[in-house]
Amino acid sequence: MNIVLLGAPGAGKGTQAQKLVADYGVAHISTGDLLRAAVKAQSELGKEAKSYMDAGQLVPDSLVVKLVKERLAQDDAQRGFILDGFPRNLQQAEVLDAELAGMGIALEAALLVDVKPEIIIDRLSSRRTCHSCNYTATAGVDPCPRCGGEMYQRDDDKPETIAKRLDTYANQTAPLVEYYRGHDILKEVDGDRPVDDVYADVRSLLGL
Ligand code: AP5
Repeated sequence: MNIVLLGAPGAGKGTQAQKLVADYGVAHISTGDLLRAAVKAQSELGKEAKSYMDAGQLVPDSLVVKLVKERLAQDDAQRGFILDGFPRNLQQAEVLDAELAGMGIALEAALLVDVKPEIIIDRLSSRRTCHSCNYTATAGVDPCPRCGGEMYQRDDDKPETIAKRLDTYANQTAPLVEYYRGHDILKEVDGDRPVDDVYADVRSLLGL
């Protein structure tokens, strides 16, 4: 399985990726998780990325592309991967195509998890994320059901930043839907249903 997950912030990309990883053992490559780890570690990359993330803007391609290339080269990604949050604009999509071509890999699908903006705002406002393993759940779930870690609210899950992230998605990321439709690998799932119903359709669309 070599796929890209598309969808607005809070559409449920990470939630569906977690289920696919648990069932099929592929690598979950989330650029948001990689960037948050860099921020936590206070690396140079993390310090540079933080201001963009807090503003709901995309982190510059030069920083993100390097992270993704390094992650794709790791052993677990050779068994298959789910890219969650990358690509985020047309330039990143083209870089990914070139990188995968160099590795002799073809993307099997770009799966769009489609959810209306008003639902997204509610979901993100009540999301909680695990400090230790990045598991996501809703407010009230604590400790983390996967690893027992402490749950917290992400800095960018505050109302003013959510609005900016939705604008960034509409302006820069949404055009990827047509890009992948043009490549004939776009698949779409209605994400505005219970998690397990969405997941049943995801598996069916991916032929799993
Ligand atoms: P990132 O971490 O990628 O955030 P995002 O795309 O905004 O996605 P989210 O993680 O917010 O949402 P999700 O779709 O995974 O939803 P989830 O499953 O958690 O990026 C953060 C920032 O990093 C960006 O703003 C940017 O600055 C930077 N960045 C990242 N990648 C970049 C890139 N490639 N280039 C440049 N910059 C980059 O679900 C949300 C909530 O809803 C949860 O509480 C969940 O439990 C709940 N939920 C999920 N599904 C359902 C359902 N079906 N029904 C009810 N509730 C549900």
